[in-house]
Amino acid sequence: MSAQPQPSSDAGNSAGTAATASESRRLRVFRFKRGDERPHYETFDVPTIARTTVLDALRWIQIHRDRTLALRHSCLHASCGTCGLRVNGREALACVTTVRDLGREITVEPIANLQVLTDLVVDMRELFARFPEEHALVRESEFLPEADPPEGIEAFERYEDCIECGLCLSACPVVVTAERYVGPAALASAERVVEEPRGAEVANLLAWADDPDGVWRCHAIFECTVACPSNVNPAARIMSLRGTLLGRQLRAQRREERTT
Ligand code: SF4
Ligand code: FES
Repeated sequence: MSAQPQPSSDAGNSAGTAATASESRRLRVFRFKRGDERPHYETFDVPTIARTTVLDALRWIQIHRDRTLALRHSCLHASCGTCGLRVNGREALACVTTVRDLGREITVEPIANLQVLTDLVVDMRELFARFPEEHALVRESEFLPEADPPEGIEAFERYEDCIECGLCLSACPVVVTAERYVGPAALASAERVVEEPRGAEVANLLAWADDPDGVWRCHAIFECTVACPSNVNPAARIMSLRGTLLGRQLRAQRREERTT
């Protein structure tokens, strides 16, 4: 399917808001609906301006060309993690990725290593299922006597900067061949608790991570860190967990040697 570009004077139809000169980009979009035998790609010519984002362009397609195009988004400012996609083969948040530097033809696909439900929407439950059972996604906050938080909010705090976008899992080349590997987001979350337990018992968490499909499956390629839009640096956290586990093993070994 191909759509014609809109005239540059038609600012209301441009995939952006400013009434500046518009130029057309061709989006090659992954399509898949339940019942389809296999996925395919459809192309759409979209009028863009300099600050048009990939999400703007996809929304333009939804509004002007195909209302059945399915995608996820919410916050529009890199906070909710819902708009993660592969853009020209690289993981990106569509809401903050401008089309400007992406070339004339832009390929947009769902993130990899999670089941595609429809078009650009994947089953994020598969990401959350990888997290250790003992580990809650929200934790009781520290007592901060000097803070003045709103009523009721003091009981919870995000465990880290992770926005649960799944881009690290998508970028990880190990997950492709080792689907039982729990992956970078889950391991990074575990490391965050080990690093700052706030009274939590970390032995179970370390035992969970100390598994052939846990920290030891990682090949230290660091693609997850490159893909992460939130500076979580999951690869470094996996290396940190390995260091903690090896340190414990060495100390246990020395204790055993002393007693024999
Ligand atoms: S670690 Fe980074 S890339 Fe992975 S889910 Fe969290 S924010 Fe997204
Ligand atoms: S829409 Fe929330 S991160 Fe992009």
